Amino acid sequence: MESIPLNQPAYVRNRKLLQWVKETVELCRPDSVYWCDGSQEEYDRLCGEMVESGTFIRLSEEKRPNSFLCRSDPSDVARVEDRTFICSRRRQDAGPTNNWVAPKEMKASLNKLFSGCMRGRTMYVIPFSMGPLGSHISHIGVEISDSPYVVTNMRIMTRMGRAAVELLEEDSDFVPCLHSVGAPLEPGQQDVPWPCNDTKYIVHFPEERSIVSFGSGYGGNALLGKKCFALRIASSMARDEGWLAEHMLILGVESPEGEKDYVAAAFPSACGKTNFAMMIPPDAMEGWKITTIGDDIAWIKPGKDGRLHAINPEFGFFGVAPGTSVKSNPNAMATLYANCIFTNVALTPDGDVWWEDMTKTPPPSLIDWQGKPWTPDCGRPSAHPNARFTSPAHQCPSIDPDWENPEGVPISAFIFGGRRGDTIPLVYQSANWYYGVYLAATMGSEKTAAAAGKIGDVRRDPYAMIPFCGYHMGDYFNHWLQIGRALSSPPRIFGVNWFRKDENGKFLWPGFGENMRVLKWIIGRVHGRAAAVESPLGWMPKYESVDWRGQEEFSREQFSKLMSVDREAWKQELFSHEELLEKLYDKLPKEFTHIRELMLSTLWMSPEHWELAPERYSEQ
Ligand code: OXD
Ligand code: MN
Repeated sequence: MESIPLNQPAYVRNRKLLQWVKETVELCRPDSVYWCDGSQEEYDRLCGEMVESGTFIRLSEEKRPNSFLCRSDPSDVARVEDRTFICSRRRQDAGPTNNWVAPKEMKASLNKLFSGCMRGRTMYVIPFSMGPLGSHISHIGVEISDSPYVVTNMRIMTRMGRAAVELLEEDSDFVPCLHSVGAPLEPGQQDVPWPCNDTKYIVHFPEERSIVSFGSGYGGNALLGKKCFALRIASSMARDEGWLAEHMLILGVESPEGEKDYVAAAFPSACGKTNFAMMIPPDAMEGWKITTIGDDIAWIKPGKDGRLHAINPEFGFFGVAPGTSVKSNPNAMATLYANCIFTNVALTPDGDVWWEDMTKTPPPSLIDWQGKPWTPDCGRPSAHPNARFTSPAHQCPSIDPDWENPEGVPISAFIFGGRRGDTIPLVYQSANWYYGVYLAATMGSEKTAAAAGKIGDVRRDPYAMIPFCGYHMGDYFNHWLQIGRALSSPPRIFGVNWFRKDENGKFLWPGFGENMRVLKWIIGRVHGRAAAVESPLGWMPKYESVDWRGQEEFSREQFSKLMSVDREAWKQELFSHEELLEKLYDKLPKEFTHIRELMLSTLWMSPEHWELAPERYSEQ
């Protein structure tokens, strides 16, 4: 077999990396090997090549400078959870919420698929740092991929290139992430704009701390630093090493007096995480300011001060485009002004992008995400519901001055929420860490049109981690309990629900910037100054303890509806937790049974329909 030059730059010293690249070249047989340095020149060149090959469309230099539109194959548009595997050595370490195949068996299948899979293509070696370069909370990964789309997206989403690989000494460790679109080219064969394969595998080996992905070029399937490394592999590293890798946004809250707090919040997909992370408070709440650290993932470590400190391991936003507008998220729209990659959105006649709800009135004609002519009355959406923008985080007007602080930021509160049309009040505070862990473990969200199943059914999604936890969910709950035990100043834990509806199906809460009112009460609780009453669920605000400036017409009755706790509905809610908890029974923390029983008995003792401020509850 003729040998393919490895082309490694002189600054690459790491032995494991050089050996792995050599073995991968031998297995995948690419035409050539290219080591990414992460420079602007390299990015521009690859984008130019993709314009030439038809993968990218350059957008108008006036409307959207240095930005590109990409259309995926219509079969490759989202993460593939049923093709995602946690291949731990023992099946019980993956747990019942993950797909599992024995590592040896999986490797045999993957070896067959990867053999010669990069023929006719360039193999890119993409070193990257998850987290600020050199931070003690950060980790280095190297992705090998045959997709230039992956390279350019990884440059936006991570600190990618020479600086990352230079942090690797001769014998330091890193997470190898192997990716192929699985579409080798015969000599002379014409490439397609979006190569991919109907066979897909997204595979994690937690003990080895490695990732292998085959067949998809899209998002979380292909940009392996994100869900695969920063959540699935990192959650398993975090369990072993005593920290947390979470599906959480991180935001800063600054009071008019200049007091600064950070909160981390977990919501399942399709609950407006990016909007919350970049929220603009109502004008009437003058002096309150929200800053953004991250919109999707948090790595959190206990500090010497007994508090938890968090970084955003990512460098960009890979956000869902449809629904993003100047109304729903002005900061995101401003972030997208230039230097972005848009995937599966619509193209306007003047070379800009559009997606559903970006403006109230759609443009009269567009080219849709599949390249077909589109008009507002044609009966199909112009952008795919999971269309994405990839944008540099530093372009966000609300980005926090400490977002790259290698020490992270101290977390004052955790917030857990889902999309629930009934039952769950706007906000409540857990009595303590243990109740908080139970709250997060049993959070649920209604299925939206984007997911399989009946719309409105509640899917339990503990910590919004069901698709992202790299080990047994029962062990994960125990890990959270253990982390709390060891902290002298644990963050306070809150539940929220922006999506409760009235009897006519209308949302009871305006959401978006108005969520600042809830956040202000949460921060008030953290500092022990906001009043609360005790409810069967924990501590809740009274009408008087919420700042209503600028929203005075929001009545006491409306608030009461939003906050009410219905005994029957809550009994059903607690019973329905069983479905998930039973699945995890062998590893379930004993505390959970006690907490559930205590909550049931409190509900039994409370009035049928618990409203705020009955005399029997104490105030704090
Ligand atoms: C995401 C998700 O893409 O959570 O961030 O699905
Ligand atoms: Mn996410």
